[in-house]
Amino acid sequence: MSNEKREFLTDERLSLCASFVRDGTRLADIGTDHAYLPISLALAGKIESAVAADIRKKPLKSAEENIGKYGAKNIKIVLSDGLDRVSPEDAYDIVIAGMGGELISSIIKNAPWLREGSRRLILQPMTRADSLRSFLYAEGFEIIAEKACICSKKVYSVMVSEYDGKVRECPAEIKYLGLLTKESGVERDMYIDSVTRKLQKKINGLKKSGRLSEAAEYENELTAVKMCR
Ligand SMILES: C[S@@+](CC[C@H](N)C(=O)[O-])C[C@H]1O[C@@H](n2cnc3c(N)ncnc32)[C@H](O)[C@@H]1O
Repeated sequence: MSNEKREFLTDERLSLCASFVRDGTRLADIGTDHAYLPISLALAGKIESAVAADIRKKPLKSAEENIGKYGAKNIKIVLSDGLDRVSPEDAYDIVIAGMGGELISSIIKNAPWLREGSRRLILQPMTRADSLRSFLYAEGFEIIAEKACICSKKVYSVMVSEYDGKVRECPAEIKYLGLLTKESGVERDMYIDSVTRKLQKKINGLKKSGRLSEAAEYENELTAVKMCR
C-alpha cells in the first residue's frame, strides 16, 4: 500500500497520536471505533501488535471490516470497557483518543497495572483536558510530552504520560496548558486562545449567577493562562 493511502487513514489528530507511539511496541487503542490508528501503524510496520478495543459492538464490526479491507496483520479486536478486557502483556503503549478527559481518567484509574512495567499513555481528550492533567499529576503520572494540532479548524492537544509515582502540584498553567507552555507555533497559540475563551465564558456564567468567589478563583487561573500567551 502506498504511503498516501496509509496517511488517508489518519487525520492530523490521529497522526499526532501515532507519532508518539514507540517503535516495535505492543499497542492498545482504547475506543478504537474504525481502528484507523492501529491499522495505519501496523501497515507502516511500526508496531509488533495491536489490540483494537471498544465498549460497543458496532464500532468493532467496522474495525474488523477495515482491518480486512486494508490487510493489516496482528491486530486483535476486543470488546472491552476501557482496559478491563485487555491483557497487560498486549498493551505497552496505550492510546485513548476522542473521549472526554474525565472518562479517560476513569479508564486509567480502573487499570492499576498501568503503573507497572514501562507503559506509555498517549491521551487525546476532546473535553476537560484540565481535569485529566490534574488527575495525572495527583496520581503520580508525569506528562513527558505534549503537542497541539489543528484538525478541521479545531485545535486538539495530545499528551504523553508515564507513571513515576511522584505526586505533583498542578498549577493553573499546567492544568490548562500542560506542556504546551514549552511549545511554540500557531497550534499552541490557538489552543491557549481556546482555553482563554472557555475560562472567560465560565467566569461570566458564575458572575451572572452570583457565585463571585468561584468566579474570582477562575479569574486567577485565567490570568496565569494569559501570561503564557
Ligand atoms: C469519538 S470515538 C473516537 C474514535 C477514535 N479513538 C478517534 O479518536 O478517532 C469514541 C469511541 O470510544 C468508544 N468508547 C466510549 N467509552 C468507552 C469505554 N469506556 N471503553 C472503550 N471504548 C469506549 C466509543 O464506543 C467510540 O467508538
